[in-house]
Amino acid sequence: MANVVVVGAQWGDEGKGKIVDWLSERADVICRFQGGHNAGHTLVIDRAVFKLHALPSGVVRGGKLSVIGNGVVLDPWNLLQEIDTITGQGVEITPETLMIAENTPLILPFHGELDRAREEAASTGTKIGTTGRGIGPCYEDKVGRRAIRVADLADDATLEARVDRALQHHDPLRKGLGVEPIDRAALIAQLKEIAPSILKYAGPVWKVLNEKRKAGNRILFEGAQGALLDIDFGTYPFVTSSNVIAGQAATGVGIGPGAIDYVLGIVKAYTTRVGEGPFPTELDDADGQRLGERGHEFGTTTGRKRRCGWFDACLVRQTCATSGVNGISLTKLDVLDGFETLKICVGYDLDGQRLDYLPTAADQQARCTPIYEEMPGWSESTEGARSWADLPANAIKYVKRVEELIECPVALLSTSPEREDTILVTDPFAD
Ligand code: IMP
Repeated sequence: MANVVVVGAQWGDEGKGKIVDWLSERADVICRFQGGHNAGHTLVIDRAVFKLHALPSGVVRGGKLSVIGNGVVLDPWNLLQEIDTITGQGVEITPETLMIAENTPLILPFHGELDRAREEAASTGTKIGTTGRGIGPCYEDKVGRRAIRVADLADDATLEARVDRALQHHDPLRKGLGVEPIDRAALIAQLKEIAPSILKYAGPVWKVLNEKRKAGNRILFEGAQGALLDIDFGTYPFVTSSNVIAGQAATGVGIGPGAIDYVLGIVKAYTTRVGEGPFPTELDDADGQRLGERGHEFGTTTGRKRRCGWFDACLVRQTCATSGVNGISLTKLDVLDGFETLKICVGYDLDGQRLDYLPTAADQQARCTPIYEEMPGWSESTEGARSWADLPANAIKYVKRVEELIECPVALLSTSPEREDTILVTDPFAD
């Protein structure tokens, strides 16, 4: 397969970083196509830990082109800081190894302020639990046709006109929230200051990718967040502000949908969620506590404790369908070691009626209670397993049952954060 899309098939934090890193070794180009620095990917390479937010995971591998596509919203200050940190860890980042789409909207300081002010003003039940990074407000400006995009940094007059257009919208909004107006001169000065450092990476991503594709290069599309946070197909309104599902890979960089050969869904062997919103299999008991502790379930970006629960096969079947997932990478199986009994959600009870999918209406989602199937656990350790023979029989049964219920095969099985601790069934890049 030439081009592979990796998507999170739950609420994010499925362990995409390790798999993307593993696949990026086989790819020539690695692209981010949605989201922003709300994402957090941790890569462990030779025991060195790299924490990435806006940069594609490919940057830590030499000889690859990493791309930030137009579907992303980019905080330029945060990006430059991240480049500094990663460079400080001995990784070289140059215009030859990093390219930013010229039509990428910029996250500006007032986007983050608006995000946080709204969350503070929200009453219980309407808080989204955003990362506070300004992701939503920036996407709103993009759709409202008042965003400042990377290309606008190249010309002072255009930049100033764009800033004025944005302020026309934002100042009245801020007044309503009791926040002082934006300092126009300071903002323009800040943008002009960073313009050369950003522009040196800017280019027509759509063109370069289409040329790379024709030349037979392998392209890896690195999704952030998870399909249940998708703006259309997630648990709306408790979602992020971009399309997260695999189809976004095409519009988020400017290639045709036919260029996508394989979609790999990343699926954690249980479920977690950060932020607010429905979570039918959430556990408020000792089992949930144990999943969180064993799985080190704290957000990479915000450090927030993740909510934990049993595996929800209904939701994953749903996200495999909306993203056209060809195979999954099942991660963190080892976190389930030692549970006497495991539960898998196979349906929901909604007011006495059985459903095999999560309904769209938020009030119905909140009323859905999970219908569980129980499976015996295993006492042996699966951590670091590198072949099926290393796995206890009950762990294999669990994996096989997951495959049946989600109607999608396992392509990879990850048994620790180390990249070698992976059981490979199907290589998504193999022809
Ligand atoms: P936003 O993307 O910051 O607007 O946050 C919207 C929702 O998406 C919140 O529930 C966040 O916790 C969640 N979210 C955003 N990025 C991630 C991520 O990378 N992993 C998990 N949850 C995320």
